[in-house]
Parts: sequence; C-alpha cells; structure tokens
Amino acid sequence: MLDVLINNAGILGGMSQPASSTSVSTIKEVFDTNVFGVIEVTQAFLDLLRQSPAPRIVNVTSGLGSLTLHNDPTWKYYHVKGAAYQPSKAALNAYTIMLAYELRDTPFKVNAVDPGYTATDFNHHSGPGTVQDAAARVVKAALLGPNGPTSQFFSDDYDPETGISPW
Ligand SMILES: NC(=O)c1ccc[n+]([C@@H]2O[C@H](COP(=O)([O-])OP(=O)(O)OC[C@H]3O[C@@H](n4cnc5c(N)ncnc54)[C@H](OP(=O)(O)O)[C@@H]3O)[C@@H](O)[C@H]2O)c1
Repeated sequence: MLDVLINNAGILGGMSQPASSTSVSTIKEVFDTNVFGVIEVTQAFLDLLRQSPAPRIVNVTSGLGSLTLHNDPTWKYYHVKGAAYQPSKAALNAYTIMLAYELRDTPFKVNAVDPGYTATDFNHHSGPGTVQDAAARVVKAALLGPNGPTSQFFSDDYDPETGISPW
C-alpha cells in the first residue's frame, strides 16, 4: 500500500529556450523527465495507491506552467518564456487534470503544486524562497483531508490568500 506519491523530479533544460530555435532534442529531454517520467511513475504506483484509504498524488509543477498567466502581460513572470520547461509543466498540469477526472469518484486527491521560486541547485540558488517553505507547500497538498480539493493548481506564490493559480 502507498498513501502518498509526490512527483518532484524535474529539469530545466538550460536557461535560454527561444521557441524559434530550441532544439526538439532539448524539448524531448525535458518532457522525458517532467512529463513522461511522471506518467510512468504514476502508472507504476497506481495499484499500490488504490489500496490506501486516502491516496494523494502531488505533481510538483511551476507557476511557469500556467498558460493563462503566460498570456497576461501584467504577470511578474510574463517575460520568463521558454519552449521546453514551461510547456512541459503545462503538459504536466494537463495530465494532473485528466488523472484527477478519472479518479474523481474515488478517495484520491490529485493536485499540482507550485513550490515557488526557491533557492535550489535548479536555479543556482537564485530563488528567494527556502526549501523548507517549498516543502511545506507540497506536504500540505499531500495531507489533504477527505473533503479537500482535487484537480487544483496550488500556488502561494501567485496568490497567498487563496493559494490557487489559474491553469
Ligand atoms: N527551484 C525552483 O525555484 C522551482 C520553482 C518551481 C518549480 N520547481 C520544481 O520543483 C521540482 C524540484 O526542483 P528543485 O528546485 O528541487 O530542483 P533540483 O535541486 O535541480 O532537484 C531536482 C531533483 O530531480 C531529480 N531528477 C532530475 N531528473 C531526474 C530523472 N530523470 N529521474 C529521477 N530524478 C531526477 C534530481 O536528481 P539528481 O540530483 O540525482 O539529478 C534532483 O533530486 C522540479 O519539478 C522543478 O521543476 C522548482
């Protein structure tokens, strides 16, 4: 039996990712880890999760995966565009919604969590957030009660009051 699956592994694929010139091999490499890897791991653990009375799946996404915000010129990360990482997190978000839908009549909660811009190896420790705060956001979604939401995109970075980001 498995109660909680947190899909945290992710790669950036390099700093500069112009849509006009980023190679398909780079995009595939990023999707392999950030999307296809998550799907493979999730499918591999689903039967064990089904044995839990309260299974929780948390997909660690990014605010940079929000298509809505990428079309909002007033968003603080509007200019942080990229052809590999951002689309990979948008695809991960889409998979989260599809899986949550399939499991909607079960005790599962399947959600995406943006940990926030955090000081890790990922960004050479440039992020202002701490790993402790980021982990707390992820753990919160992993410990949702039976009446908690499913198919949500949690982001305290985007909106600290609601903790919800547009997709
Ligand atoms: N840091 C931020 O500001 C930020 C913001 C938004 C979202 N995120 C997301 O948060 C998650 C964690 O990122 P992080 O900041 O902790 O990055 P990190 O310090 O670079 O750590 C990434 C982790 O993913 C593992 N990993 C990468 N590719 C893998 C693969 N193919 N198979 C298995 N494990 C793999 C790495 O393992 P190895 O060390 O063994 O390579 C490492 O433990 C990612 O999904 C990232 O997209 C981060």
